Amino acid sequence: MPAGSEVPLCEAAAEGRVSDVEELLKAGADVCEHDSTGISPLMHAAKNGHALVVSRLLEAGAPWNAVDKAGRCAGDYAADNAHQDAFDVLLNAGITAELILGAVERQSKKKGEATNKSYLDERVEYSEDRLMDEESKAVMMAWESPLMAAHAKVVCSAGGDILNVGFGMGIVDTAIQGYEITSHTIIEAHPDVYARMLATGWAEKPNVRILFGRWQDVIPQLGTYDGIFFDTYGEYYEDLKEFNEYLPQLLKKEGRYSFFNGMCADNGFFHLVYCELVRLELGSLGITTDYIQLPVKDCMDEETWKGIQHKYWQLDTYSLPVCQFSEDESEEENQ
Ligand SMILES: C[S@@+](CC[C@H](N)C(=O)[O-])C[C@H]1O[C@@H](n2cnc3c(N)ncnc32)[C@H](O)[C@@H]1O
Repeated sequence: MPAGSEVPLCEAAAEGRVSDVEELLKAGADVCEHDSTGISPLMHAAKNGHALVVSRLLEAGAPWNAVDKAGRCAGDYAADNAHQDAFDVLLNAGITAELILGAVERQSKKKGEATNKSYLDERVEYSEDRLMDEESKAVMMAWESPLMAAHAKVVCSAGGDILNVGFGMGIVDTAIQGYEITSHTIIEAHPDVYARMLATGWAEKPNVRILFGRWQDVIPQLGTYDGIFFDTYGEYYEDLKEFNEYLPQLLKKEGRYSFFNGMCADNGFFHLVYCELVRLELGSLGITTDYIQLPVKDCMDEETWKGIQHKYWQLDTYSLPVCQFSEDESEEENQ
């Protein structure tokens, strides 16, 4: 039986028959009806590289982000089969949809309400290799240490004044302390984490300034920085976007910015959509974003996720963002 043959729209999409797809849609075929294997018409078209059919199905309302039983979306099918055109159509659809969704969410969000209020009100618990919240979700884990070392290297590359948002286990801050820098400001909002910082002597370090509070509330106390790293917990893309919008005021013109890139890290395609979205949105602030690819498979083993509610990382590669003002912006400023 050919692919998707029990669902005519699946079959036409798999075979790239554009006019049949259009006829079926006109006749009222359900654009979301998947076949017995759980694969939708959009996934069939993507898997077989029929970019035009992918476009038609998206226009007809096929959700770009629907997943099959294994959690794979149409973009994953296009990527796995190296169909660049279909992949690009889906990537653009994903970015556009998320831009619109973000604008809608910003409209409905109540001003001043913390996204992660319940986390900040709960207790956290430290152990040797992790920091956990009350729901057994990991706030921070030691497997990220090589990534934190790489982030520290990026933001400390020119020394100077460094800002880190989110102390967690202090891994990135310990790495930052290994560089010759002028000052090191740390923002931390959780009372237990702050207590830990005090108990472990961070307040006595000569070049360290601790700001206890949410970054949203302590922004007026900040200066300008040569390196900025952002890694909070329980916040969403919209919060990261809000922080990014302060960069023109916080980051020196030659400075480097990076953030923990854990957006949608349970699906390769969704993750890529967000990598591109952040690149686009930072671009509108005159900031370029490059991603350094770091393999992370070897950072984890079977034991790593034992006792943890949500495995927040599922990808083989970490895309470490390196962000800086584009040369045009820096030149304009120097003139
Ligand atoms: C993932 S951990 C940071 C891990 C850190 N990069 C490290 O190397 O250990 C996130 C930290 O951000 C803090 N945090 C969460 N929301 C915050 C906010 N709005 N402002 C400041 N800190 C926040 C959390 O309490 C937590 O300590």
